[in-house]
Amino acid sequence: MRFFLLCLSLTLSATPSGAQDAIGLASPSEVSNSGLLQHILPRFSLKTGIRVISDAEGIMSLNTSAEGDPVFARGEIVYHLRIQDDPKQARFRDWLLSDIGKRTIESFAPDQGPPFSASFEVASAEASEVIDGNTALGEELSMTHCGRCHVIGPQNRMNGLGSTPSFAVLRTLPDWDERFQAFFALNPHPAFTQIEGLTPPFDPTRPSPIHPVEMTLDDLDAILAFVSVISAADLGAPLQHQ
Ligand code: HEC
Repeated sequence: MRFFLLCLSLTLSATPSGAQDAIGLASPSEVSNSGLLQHILPRFSLKTGIRVISDAEGIMSLNTSAEGDPVFARGEIVYHLRIQDDPKQARFRDWLLSDIGKRTIESFAPDQGPPFSASFEVASAEASEVIDGNTALGEELSMTHCGRCHVIGPQNRMNGLGSTPSFAVLRTLPDWDERFQAFFALNPHPAFTQIEGLTPPFDPTRPSPIHPVEMTLDDLDAILAFVSVISAADLGAPLQHQ
């Protein structure tokens, strides 16, 4: 059986155009062993004439860190595609993100484990930008100041308020960084948030209804850096929050 599968995958990778222009795609073993790539790569090649092959040493890679563009998810894990500045590689990424590419990913029925999902809002290039800063501090500050209401990660998965969007979901919005930079001005935060030297004091007739969030702009920078590296989890279902 194993031998048969090996022959099959050799046959699949032996599509017409010369081996020299095949583009290698490295992926975590749970992806390369799932059969997903054997399902999608020939379809992409057929459509575009560009050959992409599963290759542990490949110059393109799928990874679970937040580097590159999120292209599909399985359960809680979101896979990001990292490519180089190359039109053929960009074509592959764009295809994965297109309706046809997504349908191809979702039409694959793995022998084992849950199916792959591509039905989450895809972050734009800008949204996948990583912001420099102290991400560890940002994580701590997010827990302290925001974790009361927002699920910020596995750290407080059980503690967020159900009606409040998780940081992971907010992170997938194309303009997530603008929203975070201005969060103190966006409802419901102004009623309970004080940014040192920036927000006006609370109206004495309308004190903060809850223990206020008090922080500095440096704190907010650290939170932005932390959010920029969050890998978008919980994305099996389409976004509820707009
Ligand atoms: C007391 C609860 C609470 C706290 C504390 C809180 N938030 Fe929120 N936040 C909310 C709710 C509720 C929403 C959803 C508002 C909506 O859907 O209109 C929200 C939405 C947001 C949004 C999206 C806003 C928009 O309009 O797009 C951002 C960004 C955000 N919060 C950041 C933060 C950050 C950063 C902190 C901590 C420094 C924080 N929040 C603390 C309750 C809270």
